[in-house]
Amino acid sequence: MIELIVIASNAQALTLLEEFTAPGLLAITLEDASANQSVEESISLLNVSNAQENMPVWDCVQLFLLFEDWESTQEGLPILYGYGVTENQLAGFRVVGDKDWIEHIKDQFHPIEIMYGFWLVPTWHEVPQEAKNYLFLDPGLAFGTGSHPTTLMCLRWLLNHNLQDQSLLDYGCGSGILAMVAAKLSARPVYAVDIDTVAVTVTLDNARLNQVMIHAQTPGKLDRQFHLVMANIVCQPLIDLAPHLIESLQIGGTLILSGILLFQVEAIKNTYKQWLDLEVVDNIGDWVCLAGQYRQDQVALK
Ligand SMILES: C[S@@+](CC[C@H](N)C(=O)[O-])C[C@H]1O[C@@H](n2cnc3c(N)ncnc32)[C@H](O)[C@@H]1O
Repeated sequence: MIELIVIASNAQALTLLEEFTAPGLLAITLEDASANQSVEESISLLNVSNAQENMPVWDCVQLFLLFEDWESTQEGLPILYGYGVTENQLAGFRVVGDKDWIEHIKDQFHPIEIMYGFWLVPTWHEVPQEAKNYLFLDPGLAFGTGSHPTTLMCLRWLLNHNLQDQSLLDYGCGSGILAMVAAKLSARPVYAVDIDTVAVTVTLDNARLNQVMIHAQTPGKLDRQFHLVMANIVCQPLIDLAPHLIESLQIGGTLILSGILLFQVEAIKNTYKQWLDLEVVDNIGDWVCLAGQYRQDQVALK
């Protein structure tokens, strides 16, 4: 297998993680670019693309694109360029074997305390002694280890609210991390939806592992409405999905959106203002989390 290393802005990395597919592409993972190379080097690589996107220069990550072989890597490159990635952003290739790849994923993921003694624990680690509550997680090839700011803000929202008997829909569930934390905090019933069938399988596996009840499926009719609808995707899908997300929300229920950058807040607010007034409730760097309550006066529009 061949691993292609790409230096990307945080927003570009998330778009690629969400949307990039190519024949022979096996997986995409990311890590902080400053962890493995000098900051100066990352910044100089990023100056061109960041100027175009008006993003801060320090906001960059290393993406690892794992391809089956050299042939598929070469076929994948033009597709990558179609996403605005330039040759300057390619930091290198390396040949990896199966065993190295599994270790590579494991090396990146350690137990993390979200807050209030609630820990996320990779299945291959012991539960830290100081953990008051915890969730075992094996993200497999799905997004969602809890270390990305957009996930972390959703987790903080969940831990800061009383979820007892609140029904919740996690739209774009990835590893199922948000749905499972909600279920651990007594939300019920909890539904999880993802366009990616691998994510649905990983979510069901993780739910079994943690002995929590999650209904996971690909997008389709749900035939019910929820007290809470949470979606951590990226800006454009959150705009496109607005009617679907609202359709699943009870009047008076709360919508929580993440995966949004500061400069995208107005576009999101404008899209949803016919149903609810979204406000920024959390931020990490340039990433923000928005929440709002479905207004009573919208009942006639449902
Ligand atoms: C950024 S990840 C979030 C994963 C997890 N919920 C978390 O917070 O870490 C976004 C997820 O949304 C899914 N997704 C993207 N577009 C979608 C769509 N239109 N409908 C359903 N899921 C979608 C992706 O497959 C991906 O698993």
